[in-house]
Amino acid sequence: MAHLTRRKFGRSMMAGATASTFGKLLLGQDDCTPPAGTLVDFLIPANAQNIFRKSVAELTADEVTRLRLAYQRLRDLTASDPTDPRGWMQQAHVHCWNCGGSSTDIHGSWTFFPWHRAYLYFHERILCKLLNDDSFRLPYWSWDDTNYRNLPAIYQPATVGSAANPLYDANRSSAAVSGASMPGSIFPAAQNPMNSANFAAFGGGPDAGGSVEFGPHGAIHMWTGIPDDPYADMGNLLLAARDPIFYAHHCNIDRLWAEFNRRNPLAHANPTDAEFLTRSFQFFDENKQLVTIRVQDVLDTAPLGFSYRPGVELSKPNLPKWTQLKYDPATHLIQLPAPIPQSPIVKLRSVVVKDVKLPKQSGSYNVFVGDPPTASADQSKAANYVGYIGIIVGAHRHDQKCSLVLNATDLFLQTAGGAGARLRFAPAGTTNGAALEFSAVYLTEE
Ligand code: C2O
Repeated sequence: MAHLTRRKFGRSMMAGATASTFGKLLLGQDDCTPPAGTLVDFLIPANAQNIFRKSVAELTADEVTRLRLAYQRLRDLTASDPTDPRGWMQQAHVHCWNCGGSSTDIHGSWTFFPWHRAYLYFHERILCKLLNDDSFRLPYWSWDDTNYRNLPAIYQPATVGSAANPLYDANRSSAAVSGASMPGSIFPAAQNPMNSANFAAFGGGPDAGGSVEFGPHGAIHMWTGIPDDPYADMGNLLLAARDPIFYAHHCNIDRLWAEFNRRNPLAHANPTDAEFLTRSFQFFDENKQLVTIRVQDVLDTAPLGFSYRPGVELSKPNLPKWTQLKYDPATHLIQLPAPIPQSPIVKLRSVVVKDVKLPKQSGSYNVFVGDPPTASADQSKAANYVGYIGIIVGAHRHDQKCSLVLNATDLFLQTAGGAGARLRFAPAGTTNGAALEFSAVYLTEE
């Protein structure tokens, strides 16, 4: 199934381009060869306001007007200075030079998610600049919800009043233009990407794309654009970003990724391979500067100034319920909202601690809520014992991290529900407790 989808998608999406013609490819009169320029590292502004991106369906009338104004200014820039890298056509070229099987092709691999997130980020910054409004955020096309599987209406009319609609694109399929819903075959129950077991299945690996890219992502491209020769706009990766709906489509893809991570921070964690984290991409920023940004810079959305409300409609799998607990990184004090009562429905509660800094010496370390017991006998019988960390010689380098799943004892839940509690660890059989350092802590209930 995955192979079929990929072949069909690949053949039509890559129409007109092969690796050997890439770079010289002329698209109409436009050449999407990567531009030259002096590269600088992009510094993510420290003070970005973290604002929720909204679905197209949620936009107020004023927000629709503002969205249209943003794309009008983007199109005006292409008309007044076609070489301005921020204009609508040049923005579309950024996508074009990163596909088609070239050496910078970011499709068909684990760079698919982070590259598109970075692309939307710079696109959003450019629109903010053109609007002179840093609070503008891109909307997403929430096709995960069966109610919104048609082309959002604000993108379709060619004119609004007496003016051209800047969200309109002439190269769309008759199905999309008709206002009809996508066929259910795009979302087969047995092939729901949100049920992927891990990132590799969901988002791909070094040489393979994942279940989103070669599932709804590709199918919706084909459904929206011209899916046969001449494979125009959304139906052809080289041209796709000429259609403003592209950005709303990818914004939803980005949202699925954020939700996938959020639903199960451990099992769904992003790859940590250096090859992935340090992979860098080139974009033009809102000041026309050619910049590089790395995958590791875009794994978290909040520092980039946006987030998504939790939850998507694609599936509600039976996963443990995760609640992130507040803690103070200076004192390591963990807070629970209130003492958690026993529940006949919840069978198991665990505390999941992310990015625990591993002790430097090999050996077994017991973990406690609060101090280790003073008697060094069998400490695992102590009321405040919650688990252990076993480190095998040679199994880790210094400063490595791990995630721990600990027994959420009643003691922990009650202590933490009051003033808060600290997790401490000690080499087995000793009473030399030290504070457990970590980046985040969750309570799971299943
Ligand atoms: Cu870069 Cu939807 O493709």
